Amino acid sequence: MTKSFYSAVQSRRSIYGINDEKIISDERIEDIVNLVVKHTPTAFNSQTGRVVVLLGEQHKKFWKLAFESTKQGLAEEKIDSTKKRFESFASGYGTVLFFEDYSVVESFQEKFSSVEHYFPVWSHQASGMLQYIVWTALEQEGLGASLQHFYPEFSKEVKESWGIQEKWELIAQLPFGNPISPPKEKLIEPVEQRVVIVK
Ligand SMILES: Cc1cc2nc3c(=O)[nH]c(=O)nc-3n(C[C@H](O)[C@H](O)[C@H](O)COP(=O)(O)O)c2cc1C
Repeated sequence: MTKSFYSAVQSRRSIYGINDEKIISDERIEDIVNLVVKHTPTAFNSQTGRVVVLLGEQHKKFWKLAFESTKQGLAEEKIDSTKKRFESFASGYGTVLFFEDYSVVESFQEKFSSVEHYFPVWSHQASGMLQYIVWTALEQEGLGASLQHFYPEFSKEVKESWGIQEKWELIAQLPFGNPISPPKEKLIEPVEQRVVIVK
């Protein structure tokens, strides 16, 4: 980490303009993701998060497959704009796929049956933490990223080649790359309306 935690929180943004110029090594990306996966908290220390990092051609393949799958359910007039959107993600350097392993969620539901209905919720909450920290960390390294939610169908062959197991549920995608355009302007509601301090 080169900046303080607070400035990292402040400077993380959704960056949609990215290209595939390599600005940090693949090993550095791997180290960051490993560190975040190891240290992000999970309910009951269940460690339900699973991550697949696609780099270079595999990342581009993901967005091509995602488009082919997503376009099936789209209205004709949405196809072009969706294609452009997916191509803009594909123009980056990599994508982090976030999964939750439901075989682990279910095992905790069995073990702690009095709170079993909370585990799927906690699993998503923990995934959100994981996504946020990876996103913020990659931006600290000078990359730009955005968070996406598409749920393409993958063939058995693709799942096998990317190590995606049967019980892994895809939660989100984080396409990232060299940032080439600034984030959009963002309206921030007055914090006094959102935070109450009681003494
Ligand atoms: C739970 C969650 C879901 C989101 N889903 C999407 C998404 O599907 N596509 C997208 O472009 N941005 C998505 N975003 C990003 C938000 O739109 C973005 O964070 C918000 O507008 C604030 O902008 P900022 O990220 O630049 O601070 C999501 C963010 C969160 C926290």
